[in-house]
Amino acid sequence: MARHSFIRGTGGYLPAKVLTNEDLSHMVDTTDEWIRERTGIKRRHVAADDELTSDIATAAARDALEAAGIPVSEVDLIVLATTTPDQTFPATATAVQAKLGMTGGAAFDVQAVCSGFLFALATADSLLKQGLFNTAVVIGAETFTRILDWSDRSTCVLFGDGGGAVVLKAEDWTGDPLSGVIAHHVRTDGTKSDLLYVDGGVSSTGTIGHVRMEGNRVFRHAVANISSAIQAIYDETGLTGEDIDWFVPHQANKRILDGVAKKMDISEDKVIVTVDEHANTSAGSIPLALNHAVRSGRAKKGDLILSEAMGGGFSWGASLFRL
Ligand code: UT7
Repeated sequence: MARHSFIRGTGGYLPAKVLTNEDLSHMVDTTDEWIRERTGIKRRHVAADDELTSDIATAAARDALEAAGIPVSEVDLIVLATTTPDQTFPATATAVQAKLGMTGGAAFDVQAVCSGFLFALATADSLLKQGLFNTAVVIGAETFTRILDWSDRSTCVLFGDGGGAVVLKAEDWTGDPLSGVIAHHVRTDGTKSDLLYVDGGVSSTGTIGHVRMEGNRVFRHAVANISSAIQAIYDETGLTGEDIDWFVPHQANKRILDGVAKKMDISEDKVIVTVDEHANTSAGSIPLALNHAVRSGRAKKGDLILSEAMGGGFSWGASLFRL
C-alpha cells in the first residue's frame, strides 16, 4: 500500500482595495485599451498598508480549511510560496502558523516567484508521501505591489496582491494512481535571471528593490518552457489535453495562457481565467484561480486539473491532480 495525497479543500483571499486600469492611466503613461489588449488585465487588488502577506496567507488557509472541514489541530505542515515575505526572517509561514493558532508541526517558505505554488505543492506532496507529515496547508500569497516601481509602466500595470491555499491530506491508497495529486514537473534556469528580477536584496544592496523585466523576452521563453513542462506530464502519465477537465494556469498574461492551451491541445472552454480580475499575483495566482474554479461550481470532485507556471529565475513547471 502506498501513501498518496489528496486535495481536500481550496481557499482564497483578495484585499478589498481595487485598482483599475483607468486608475493606473492617471499614474503612468498607459491606457485601459493597451493593458487589456496586451495582457487581458482589467483590474487588480492592492493590500492595505497594514495588511501583510501573512494576513493574506492566513485568510486563504482558513478558507481552505473550512472548505475541507478539517480543524487546524490536524494540520502538521504549512508550506507557503511567497516572494514578498513579511520580514527577511523568520519564514512568513511561521507567522501564518502562529496566526492560525497551530502549536506543533512545521512551517516554511518556498521561493520560486510566480512558479512558487507549484514548487510548494511538489514539496508538500513529496513530504506527505514520504510519511513525514499527514496534513498540509499549501499556500501561495503575495503583497507583490510592495516591490513594484509605480513609475515604470512596463511592470506596474501587470501585478496585484492576493493569495490562495489548498489542504492536502495523505492517505494509504490502493486505488487508481491517477487520483489525488498525480504528477509534478518543476525546473529552473539561473542563466536567465537578468530578464526578470528585483534590483535589490539583503546581501547585495540591503534594500528591497523593485521588479525589473524584459517582458517580450520573458514572453517568448514562457510559452516554450511551460509547454515542455506540460509535455513531460503528458509523457509521464500517457494523458493528453483531451483528458484534462480544467486547465488552471498561472495568470500572467491572457495571451500566454491561450497560447499554451492551443499548443497543448486544451480547448478554450477548459481554461480558467482570472487574470482579468486579479492581474498577476505571482505565487498567489494558481491557488486563487483554482479556488475560483471550485467556488464558481465549474471544477467538481473527480475532475482532472492541469496547472502550469513560469516566473523569475527562470523557474517553471506543471502539475496534474484530480480534485
Ligand atoms: O509571471 C511572471 C512571468 N511574466 C510574464 O509572463 C510576462 C511576460 N510578458 C508579457 O506579458 C508581455 O511581454 C508584456 C505585457 C509585459 C508586454 O507586452 P508586449 O506585447 O511584449 O510589449 P513590449 O514590451 O514589446 O512593448 C511594446 C510597446 C513599447 O513601446 P514601443 O517601444 O513599441 O514604442 C512599450 O514601451 O508598448 C509600450 N508599453 C506600454 N504602453 C502603454 C509598455 N508598457 C506599456 C503600458 N502602456 N503599460
